[in-house]
Amino acid sequence: MPDLYAVIGNPIAHSKSPLIHAEFSRQTDQDMRYEALLVPLDGFSVAVEAFRKFGGKGMNVTIPFKLEACKISTRLTERAATSQAVNTLVFDDDEILGDNTDGIGLVRDISSNLDFMITGKRVLVMGAGGAARGVLLPLLEHQPKVLTIVNRTKQKALELYQRFFEYGFVIPAGYEDLPGHEFDIVINATSASLSNELPSLPPGIFAAESLAYDMMYGNGSTPFLKFARQQGATHLSDGIGMLVEQAAESFFLWRGLRPETEPVIAMLRPET
Ligand code: ATR
Repeated sequence: MPDLYAVIGNPIAHSKSPLIHAEFSRQTDQDMRYEALLVPLDGFSVAVEAFRKFGGKGMNVTIPFKLEACKISTRLTERAATSQAVNTLVFDDDEILGDNTDGIGLVRDISSNLDFMITGKRVLVMGAGGAARGVLLPLLEHQPKVLTIVNRTKQKALELYQRFFEYGFVIPAGYEDLPGHEFDIVINATSASLSNELPSLPPGIFAAESLAYDMMYGNGSTPFLKFARQQGATHLSDGIGMLVEQAAESFFLWRGLRPETEPVIAMLRPET
């Protein structure tokens, strides 16, 4: 019987993870199966236990269970512990290892695929929810000159500052604090794009030769990427590369192999 993996979430129908992992396992010739599991909002831990008992080797966890996945893990990697969110579970005997590969996925996409240097740059992360928390440590490990966290509810940016200041130069901010400041990399980690909204960014925040990165992806450009283009950002990217890179890191945790990500990103990206 092939080794069994799954992505668990609610909703789950639109997840691209089964397609991505099918490609990875085909590429690397692995005897494995990867499925999508829809579970009720109050049924996460029961479903994980049943999957484990059935012989499952690992899981990806998506909305809204990343916090719960953190709680059921018996051991956490540092990047999962600091973000308090788990997107990858590895089952090994009695142990449940919880990791978070979202941040490394983002950083690999920016630094390797887009060939954009993070070190020494002025980085702005918009949002202070789970998505933002998951990417802060891997970004700080690349030693940006400064990492500003901006959030509509400024208090939450302050809380993140308190959690992450020891890892690098972090500044908490509200959108009203941004005018007059320029950034080389602006990352949208809010959920605003999901509802087709644009956070209230002032004009003039994009430095010359800057990158605008929307962690969301969908059909076509998001309001944030349209705004960034109008404001002169020279590099624009949606979250498809991050999605594939985080999947590759999960695949590596499970199988010890690094699949090729470039053809999978190209396969998922709609023609422009
Ligand atoms: P996720 O796990 O996807 O990060 P979340 O924890 O609900 O989801 O966080 C959503 C983030 O998007 C928050 O930082 C939220 O700002 P608030 O903390 O002020 O609510 C941010 N967000 C959502 N819609 C937004 C909008 N229209 N403009 C600015 N920020 C927005």
